[in-house]
Amino acid sequence: MNKTIVSPSILAADFADFSQAIIKIESSGASWLHMDVMDGSFVPNITFGPQLVRDIRKRTKLFLDVHLMIAHPGQFINEFAKAGADLITFHYEAEVHSQKFLTEIRSLGIKTGIAIVPSTPCSVLEEILPFIDSALIMTVNPGFGGQTLIPECLEKVKKLVKMRDETGLCFRISVDGGINEQTAQDAIKAGADTLVIGTMFFQSGDQKGLVSKLQI
Ligand code: DX5
Ligand code: ZN
Repeated sequence: MNKTIVSPSILAADFADFSQAIIKIESSGASWLHMDVMDGSFVPNITFGPQLVRDIRKRTKLFLDVHLMIAHPGQFINEFAKAGADLITFHYEAEVHSQKFLTEIRSLGIKTGIAIVPSTPCSVLEEILPFIDSALIMTVNPGFGGQTLIPECLEKVKKLVKMRDETGLCFRISVDGGINEQTAQDAIKAGADTLVIGTMFFQSGDQKGLVSKLQI
């Protein structure tokens, strides 16, 4: 079993002060930093692009967990790789040739991730599981932070654990959206080992306590 990792999402940070967000994440004891790239097309919101990844890379050694919620993600892999991403996750729904681009990401020495939205069954991932280091199960419909977790999505986490056991692979299973102290426990119980946390992390008065409680 993989150790639980908390990946704080800067979507919930002050966009005019990412330096402060980096300091908060580093001092919390988290080793990952989640970056939600949104294009206003694949999802109904716009955030930032590779420039922010590049600038954050210069300031921290945190593992940069880049989640692309964009159309045609394959076209942007090189840009995000050059910018310094450690893991690039893109959406299964956004790219027909996912195997091709997962292979491309790996060839650049970067970890690979595939994400699915709540309405996509995890069975579609069967053929590409050998090509991923991480499967990201969206537990809300992507686009905005601060939403409520859809409990049915945790059933997909359980199914994916079964698929992983059957194949003997060891990719991580990440949950993203609506994670709070209670839903984090539910997600861990279902088999998730990576918790993307936006709102609850940045609203917490005890980020260190939160991370150490979950990263056991
Ligand atoms: C939603 C994003 C999430 C978001 C999670 O589209 O993918 O990463 O930051 O935020 P919370 O924890 O606020 O649901
Ligand atoms: Zn995300």
